[in-house]
Amino acid sequence: MPESPGRAALDAVRLTAGYRAQAPVLSEVTASVPRGGFTAVIGPNGCGKSTLLRAFTRLLAPAGGEVLLDGRAIAGLRTSELARRQSLLPQQSPVPDGIRVAELVQRGRYPHQRLFAQWSPEDEAAVARAMELTRIGDLADRLVDTLSGGQRQRVWIALALAQDTPLLLLDEPTTFLDIAHQFETLRLLDSLRAQGRTVVAVLHDLDHAARFATHVVAMRDGRVRAAGPPAAILTEERIREVFGLDCRVIPDPDTGTPVVLPR
Ligand SMILES: Nc1ncnc2c1ncn2[C@@H]1O[C@H](COP(=O)(O)OP(=O)(O)O)[C@@H](O)[C@H]1O
Ligand SMILES: [Mg+2]
Repeated sequence: MPESPGRAALDAVRLTAGYRAQAPVLSEVTASVPRGGFTAVIGPNGCGKSTLLRAFTRLLAPAGGEVLLDGRAIAGLRTSELARRQSLLPQQSPVPDGIRVAELVQRGRYPHQRLFAQWSPEDEAAVARAMELTRIGDLADRLVDTLSGGQRQRVWIALALAQDTPLLLLDEPTTFLDIAHQFETLRLLDSLRAQGRTVVAVLHDLDHAARFATHVVAMRDGRVRAAGPPAAILTEERIREVFGLDCRVIPDPDTGTPVVLPR
């Protein structure tokens, strides 16, 4: 059952979207992001996860349907308001030439700055907090393009955090990280959720989705195949349906959450 529009932090309502001169990638997608939850978007490569996040953040205009942010159509919001309410960590971002870590994180504050206003103590504090949470303080003066993939990913996450929005969308935030940093990132997102933020993340690791998500949206071929609590979605049958993967699902001995064992 689709949740009723307006109750969630974000709703896609019969959303059709894609790229110029191509068949739409998303066809009539209806999906909700519960407020205060951690929503994991899962699905095979090319199924439209990044496209959905772009439509959620208005980087992509829908060809049909709409996206609601707190129940209001995002099409009608001012860009500055949108930027104060949601931030996106894209799957890949080009690093501006010659930029240092602290400078890049400071860019997260642009949406908060007013014309003629100076950099404020509040801006300074948000940047410091974002760098502390992502543990990149010791990298502050480094050139971003000299960092390892994992370090760079933490800088991008810090940029999104510095924006200090109630809604945070992250496209594969753990992909370039080693296993320890993957967990550190997931725990960070979990703690942000516990502090009241709404988190949406594209995750490839289903065990991570099982452990950290409160809501899972499973996509295939530009459609939502299933959405609900992790335990209801991460089943042998659904995983076969969504990924075409034959697997066993067993409970994690410590957490009881589903663990996926491909056969
Ligand atoms: N900028 C683009 N221009 C044209 N086609 C694109 C673009 N980005 C993605 N696509 C296509 O849209 C489909 C869905 O891509 P994407 O949303 O990136 O999938 P996912 O994130 O699930 O891997 C793919 O077929 C992909 O080739
Ligand atoms: Mg993607």
